[in-house]
Amino acid sequence: MTRTPFIAGNWKMYKTGTQAVETAVALKDMTAEISGVDIMIAPTFLSLPLVAQAVAGSNVRVGAQNLYHKNEGAFTGEVSAPMIKDSGAEYAIIGHSERRQYFGETDASVNLKIRAAADCGLTPVLCIGETESQRDAEKTFNILDKQVSDGVKGFGSDELNDLILAYEPVWAIGTGKTATADQVDEVHQYLRNLITRLYSKDFADKTRILYGGSVKPDNVKELMAIEDVDGALVGGASLNAESFINIINFRN
Ligand code: 13P
Repeated sequence: MTRTPFIAGNWKMYKTGTQAVETAVALKDMTAEISGVDIMIAPTFLSLPLVAQAVAGSNVRVGAQNLYHKNEGAFTGEVSAPMIKDSGAEYAIIGHSERRQYFGETDASVNLKIRAAADCGLTPVLCIGETESQRDAEKTFNILDKQVSDGVKGFGSDELNDLILAYEPVWAIGTGKTATADQVDEVHQYLRNLITRLYSKDFADKTRILYGGSVKPDNVKELMAIEDVDGALVGGASLNAESFINIINFRN
């Protein structure tokens, strides 16, 4: 089974609208001739429609970093899946560890968000990952099992056509500490088997599993060479178009 590699940039709370458009246009130009890789960037909500417009018709797709699970209502400060979809985004990152850590997201809220994304045709990028103390306590697989199983609870495989998983060990995010190839290999194989158990081999074979956590131009090739790594979710190194293009061009 060949899965098209998926390279995504999570811009977190960086860049004004002007800066986001500038980087997006640079990426659009640099990726004009690229094929065989899906590219996505996730700017802030505020920049989302501007960036989506700037890259429309190009090889660059756009995603949100979060969403609220209700379609509309008196929920001050929140943004819904239909609003995100209407802005031109096609993906939604859901359950990022920074959301879980700083904004109280749980596997239950993640599940509601995946439902909201799927219902309006946004592809969910479900983020999972253990903390350093959980890894040290040998709880990594239990944690991942729960995050995935509870995250997709109640979904049939037909409703989750394009599910993307992103394994981001919390201890490797923004720390410069990448997981070793053996650690990534072990976890990604585990996740592929877990999806097989929850759904089917066919479904698991087409589900893309990304790695995230200090991915850089100089380590992406080694990570992408791991059989069950189907792409990367990149934070810091995606903020600069030159650096991100070197990750997108991981084959070179
Ligand atoms: P860094 O690449 O900066 O470690 O961030 C990873 C991440 O959190 C992407 O979602």
